[in-house]
Formats: sequence, structure tokens, C-alpha cells
Amino acid sequence: MRPDNLKTRIFLDGADPEETRQVMASLGFLDGQTTNPSLLAKNPEAEAHKVAGNKFSSTAIYDFYKTLCQELSALLPKGSISIEVYADAGTTVEEMLTQARTFDTWIPNAHIKLPTTAAGLAAAAVLTGEGRRVNMTLVFSQAQAAAVYAATRGAGPGDVFLSPFIGRLDDRGENGMDLIKNILAMYAPSDGHVQVLTASVRSMEHFMCALALGSDLITAPAKVLLAWAEAGKPLPGKNYVYNAKGLTPIPDEALTLAKSWQDYPIGHPLTDAGLTKFAADWNSLIDMTS
Ligand code: E4P
Repeated sequence: MRPDNLKTRIFLDGADPEETRQVMASLGFLDGQTTNPSLLAKNPEAEAHKVAGNKFSSTAIYDFYKTLCQELSALLPKGSISIEVYADAGTTVEEMLTQARTFDTWIPNAHIKLPTTAAGLAAAAVLTGEGRRVNMTLVFSQAQAAAVYAATRGAGPGDVFLSPFIGRLDDRGENGMDLIKNILAMYAPSDGHVQVLTASVRSMEHFMCALALGSDLITAPAKVLLAWAEAGKPLPGKNYVYNAKGLTPIPDEALTLAKSWQDYPIGHPLTDAGLTKFAADWNSLIDMTS
């Protein structure tokens, strides 16, 4: 059962339906699931393929991803399933649109994950204009969050998720939770068409802090959700304090949401590095000679 006072929607970050079943059984509810190429590469069936030397062809990989998403969608028919486009630094807007429109035919409850790059933002503008749902990923700055808001203006409530990656900011010594706090404050007076999905959650502390800050959604790995269930699904009290353990604070930036998305400085080294890693993990599953 969902705790009575829980407003935040809880997603599983993973690509193994067995894990989804286990988390659903432990929590008694689950609001959705996020996938990405790195998680796909860790799917037991995909891993077994790779170990046996049977990599997917460049078309079979999409069949595999489709079957997986359909299984997740059947498990969570009222939830949302995030499906990520393949993108590297050279992927064009058109290539992203083609993948996104195809993914949208796979299941009725998809949010299409696009990188928060110039091409990803241009694709998001087109897709939300077509009434499709998107999840903007690899977000590491408030300027990127402002650009997502601007690129998807006019989208319906819940149609746009924004995924700031807090764990990867922590990894380089910055307090990722500050970014969630700053983006929520920036969006508070807005029309609310973008919802904040705290991602790259590594610990129960991250999870509890995201709840305390009032993140619209959180996606967390099975181990964190199972630990939360084991602890009795506690919610942070009024006096909750996050221990940032010496991480450098990320200052709030006074940004207007009124500009065009092209006018925000969206570049971030972690977005570039994340794109490269996702592309490598996707390609590690494919037989490039096929
Ligand atoms: C989810 O949407 C993200 O892709 C995921 O949380 C990234 O997590 P990581 O930084 O642990 O890879």
C-alpha cells in the first residue's frame, strides 16, 4: 500500500521485469519505471547474450527493448514507462524523432527519454507539440531545467518529466540534492507542465531528501526501494535534515523561465560524458558487423 501522506510518485530505475515484480510485491505499489541503455545492458537476458558472444543485430536490439517495455507496461498499465532514444553527439533531431515516434507505438504509457542537448530539446519541442510525453534526461544544471521548461511550453500536465542526476553530481563533489531544491523553487511559480523526477539516486539518504524536498517523482534502484520497504516505508518528518557530508553546495541561480530555450547556456560536461557512456553501453550489445 502507498503511505497515506506520500505525494511523490515512486518509480523503479531498472530494466529487469523480475526486479519490477519483486519491488511491486515489497512496496505494494509502484508508479512507473525508468530504463536507459546502461540498465538495458545489465538486463540478465541481454547480459547472457553478450557473454555467449551472441550480440544483437542493430535491428534486433530494438525488438528486445520493445519486448522488455511491453512486459513492463503490462506490469504497470497505469504507470509510466520511460524509454530512452539512442543518441550520441552526432545524432540528429530527425533520428531522435523517428525513434521516439516508433517507441510511442510500442506501449500506451511511454515517456520518451531524450538527452538535454540542443538536438534533444529541439526534438522535445516537436514531440510535445504532437501531444507526446517526454522525459528529459542527463540534467545537471538549472539552466538546462529552464531550457526544458521553455522548449516544452504548452505541453499538458504530466507530459514532461525532468531528470536531474543527483548521484553523478555527488560523484564529483557537488551536492546534487541542492539542484533538486533549486529547480523545484524555480518551477514553483510556473504553470507546472514540467515535473521533477529525481534520478541517479544512490542511497536511502538521497531518497528521503527527495521526499522531504517534495520532488514530484523519484526513480530509484531496486536496492533502495527494497530497503525503504524493509524499513516500513518511512516518510521524512518536519525536522528532517539532509547530511550533505561535506559536498560543495550548488547555489541557486535567479533564472527567468520566459526566454526561448535556445537562449539558455545548456552545455554541461556531465551531459556530454553521460551521452557517450549511454551510447557505448547500447553499442556493447550490438554486433557492429550485422
Ligand atoms: C534514470 O532515469 C537515470 O537514467 C538513472 O537514474 C541514472 O542513474 P546512474 O547515474 O546511477 O547511472
